[in-house]
Amino acid sequence: MDKPKVVLGVSGGIAAYKACELLRRLTESGHDVRVVPTASALHFVGAATWSALSTNPVSTEVWDDVHEVPHVRIGQHADLVVVAPATADMLAKAAHGLADDLLTNTLLTARCPVVFAPAMHTEMWEHPATQENVATLRRRGALVIEPAVGRLTGVDTGKGRLPDPGEIFEVCRRVLARGVTEPDLVGRHVVVSAGGTREPLDPVRFLGNRSSGKQGYALARTAAARGARVTLIAANSTLPAPAGVDVVPVGTAVQLREAVLRAAPEADAVVMAAAVADFRPAAYAAGKIKKKDGQEPEPISLVRNPDILAEISGDRARAGQVIVGFAAETDDVLANGRAKLKRKGCDLLVVNEVGERKTFGSEENEAVVLGADGSETAVAHGPKEALADTVWDLVAERLR
Ligand code: CTP
Repeated sequence: MDKPKVVLGVSGGIAAYKACELLRRLTESGHDVRVVPTASALHFVGAATWSALSTNPVSTEVWDDVHEVPHVRIGQHADLVVVAPATADMLAKAAHGLADDLLTNTLLTARCPVVFAPAMHTEMWEHPATQENVATLRRRGALVIEPAVGRLTGVDTGKGRLPDPGEIFEVCRRVLARGVTEPDLVGRHVVVSAGGTREPLDPVRFLGNRSSGKQGYALARTAAARGARVTLIAANSTLPAPAGVDVVPVGTAVQLREAVLRAAPEADAVVMAAAVADFRPAAYAAGKIKKKDGQEPEPISLVRNPDILAEISGDRARAGQVIVGFAAETDDVLANGRAKLKRKGCDLLVVNEVGERKTFGSEENEAVVLGADGSETAVAHGPKEALADTVWDLVAERLR
């Protein structure tokens, strides 16, 4: 089979050096990558680097190898075009269809999915001109990844940082795997909870669970790769933030509830993938609980935590909102799942069978997604991203 053909467009920003890492990830995972830098990009990273890493020729202009008609062919033959970093100037040119170099010509001839990973100073990103250009590109079907918040060039910090190259690579992988040209969750805001809550007993101890957060992160990553604005409420997870995703860190069930209730009124969908502790210690000891010679420990008494899923399902923050829950069952999986779906009042319930061999923290999952309308969608054993994409298919169907 031919290697998938990826065009890596690089425009002139300091983050161009990070595109080398993206290029490596793409080539090492079996993609044929043609790098098309702008002339300004070459001020930051030279053509020799791009050519050596991609093992392909590199040009910025339409006037090299004219007999091969590169200004048309490169775009026409691509399976994916990713522009990283995309400067404010590049977004403006793309939005207006300008074509004064090889990259802008390539963008006009590409019929495959196009991903932009913008990077610039916060002021440039927030400028109405840039925001309108981004909106135009999104309306036309391009996937524009939200920049990350963090350190920018010099001493400045703010929104405008290029997301981690490994996470941009994940977006590219997802877009290529789905094989559709237009992201279908554009204009949607989704809230995903992930990880496991920790309920503190004293300053050094907590009651927790073994949730790794991987399924929730896979849901956030796949939704972003399908164009959604994503708020990821992450309980005690150390996984890297997916590209374009707004991560809200929380610790306890009560904090998770507050964060979900704050985000829900603007959300088209809420997916509760977090393992929320059903109980928390009735009392928190301000000082470390010490053992006492010759004495048995005091029993720990617990109180119920609020059921967030039942609460947001019963009292919808927004009409037409789709709410998804997760359930882990060991026996009578489907019957228990159906009963839980009803009890919680959500629209979809992803039922996982858990058992001794089915460990937490694995890269794979299998499940049945039950719908309040009686539907049943089985998802075969596979990557957590595949289950996540099925969940978004079902959510998108209900939002339509
Ligand atoms: N959930 C929640 N608030 C809680 C507990 C759970 O929102 N206090 C959500 C979880 O995020 C998940 C679903 O509800 O989406 C799981 O429901 P739960 O009743 O906890 O089911 P199980 O974890 O399967 O456990 P059990 O049936 O044993 O209670």
